Amino acid sequence: MRVVTDLLMTTHQLMLKKMIRLIAATDRKSGLAKQGFQPWNIPDDEKYFNDHTKSHGGNVLIGAITFKTIGRPLVERQNYVLTRDKTPVEGVELVHDLESFLKDYKDRDLWVVGGANVFSQVIGADKADELYITHIEADFGCNQFFPEFVEKFKLVDESELHEQNGFIYRYAVYKKNK
Ligand SMILES: NC(=O)c1ccc[n+]([C@@H]2O[C@H](COP(=O)([O-])OP(=O)(O)OC[C@H]3O[C@@H](n4cnc5c(N)ncnc54)[C@H](OP(=O)(O)O)[C@@H]3O)[C@@H](O)[C@H]2O)c1
Repeated sequence: MRVVTDLLMTTHQLMLKKMIRLIAATDRKSGLAKQGFQPWNIPDDEKYFNDHTKSHGGNVLIGAITFKTIGRPLVERQNYVLTRDKTPVEGVELVHDLESFLKDYKDRDLWVVGGANVFSQVIGADKADELYITHIEADFGCNQFFPEFVEKFKLVDESELHEQNGFIYRYAVYKKNK
């Protein structure tokens, strides 16, 4: 009986565990962007991004530069924009202190959607639970990169190769090592 109770409690705790997930598309050198833009156009990957970031409650954390590049809040999601600028922005909640935001962020799931600077800080602070990376089989000569993560994470899911608009890519999911 005790074993069953313990098992039920563990299952319950696991169900309650909220996760911080990072989602990005990278080239074979972990490149995220070239001169401020993504040098590829893969609509199916955009759909993958939108479908995933709307799941698990649809809370997204986005760096101010990436937010400006997109030019509007991501629809059907709660947008948290990381910036030191205190000027309010319609349709988003501003986050000025990443460390306290992540520390207090325990009761909901969160998608961190970039850019390079934000990915680097979240991985560096050991706050990421899962990574959803679209690996594109090309080198675009990017000048911004996804941080090194292979030592801290293990691959748990990988799709077959896809092709769209001449780009070959696959979806991968990594989990933080215990
Ligand atoms: N391939 C992909 O999957 C992907 C995904 C997302 C973005 N991107 C690319 O990444 C590039 C942008 O990345 P980025 O590194 O230049 O910029 P970013 O990470 O989008 O935003 C950086 C900005 O966030 C704010 N910020 C960062 N850390 C902060 C902190 N601790 N506290 C408060 N505010 C903080 C600052 O904004 P303020 O200056 O306003 O204070 C900083 O300038 C774009 O080219 C975009 O296309 C690629």
